[in-house]
Amino acid sequence: MRIGVLTGGGDCPGLNAVIRSVVRKAIDGYGDQVVGFRDGWRGVLEDSCHELTVESTRGILPRGGTILGSSRTNPYKRDDGAAQVRATLDLHELDGLIAIGGEDTLGAANRLHADGVNVIGVPKTIDNDLGATDVTFGFDTALQVATDAIDRLHTTAESHNRILVVEVMGRSAGWIALHCGLAGGADVILIPEIPFDIDEVCGLIRRRHERGRYFSIVVAAEGATPKEGTTMTVDAGASVDEFGHVRLGGIGRQLERAIEERTGFETRATVLGHVQRGGTPTAFDRVLATRLGLAAIDAAHDGAWGMMTALRATQIELVALADAVAEVRRVPVGEYRRYGVLFG
Ligand code: F6P
Repeated sequence: MRIGVLTGGGDCPGLNAVIRSVVRKAIDGYGDQVVGFRDGWRGVLEDSCHELTVESTRGILPRGGTILGSSRTNPYKRDDGAAQVRATLDLHELDGLIAIGGEDTLGAANRLHADGVNVIGVPKTIDNDLGATDVTFGFDTALQVATDAIDRLHTTAESHNRILVVEVMGRSAGWIALHCGLAGGADVILIPEIPFDIDEVCGLIRRRHERGRYFSIVVAAEGATPKEGTTMTVDAGASVDEFGHVRLGGIGRQLERAIEERTGFETRATVLGHVQRGGTPTAFDRVLATRLGLAAIDAAHDGAWGMMTALRATQIELVALADAVAEVRRVPVGEYRRYGVLFG
């Protein structure tokens, strides 16, 4: 078989582990040939690719990022995008593609499958917001980075009797915020799923002061929104990617100002940003990514086009790409509320 591989969307730790396991199993297990496309769907549309070998993928397992590069290119934003994808596959005599990505890359993969392209998906994203899989690789690493940051902020917050606001990624899902907030013992956790009331936030902080704790950690997801307002963007929504996503950011600074004004307590914001996506994957993410990659090449040999490899409980299973991208998986409100007793 001849198989193409691409990584699309925001990069995340573990992408190289998938590439490595796909290449190893394809070549040594099946005698296949593997072609890597540069920069996600852009490489397929513009025919930018090279052969991947066992030798060229050695040593990449612990490396963050992706040796193939990534982009947020949407084939359906180009005239005849699907036809161009088919033409590139024909040109290289590829039997199919393995697309490693999140909701956007896999959403495009799902449409391309309907348009006659043989494609198998592998789920990735630090946001952990894909349906049909229990967890995505990249999430565990982002969580560890954010938790380490909270631990560090804790000691300086306490030394200076300050309120420290930590803004984390996650787009419209609060998984990173909720989990790093719980792991780091945050006093307030704000997630996009539940618009927050700034007076309640300040109430929790004041209560800590009344109880003799003169510092607080507030974790805010980048997509957290005040009840009375709308999602805050970097430049009034001017920056929108090819999949229609507004660039989020800014809630941390807004909270810094609002909390200090209302409580009079000295407040500082830290925006963790892309630190959460960079660097070496955790052992959990390396193993999950490896298992998903091995299953993807098996699926190609089984002709399971239009499917995605997924973690269900402890097993890797195949699910329909359509199910995975049907809707963004967000934090259930009931689950968040269960932790309310830990706040403040
Ligand atoms: O989807 C992953 C993610 O890191 C989001 O959490 C974040 O909103 C977005 O990508 C940032 O995208 P970019 O790297 O294009 O700024």
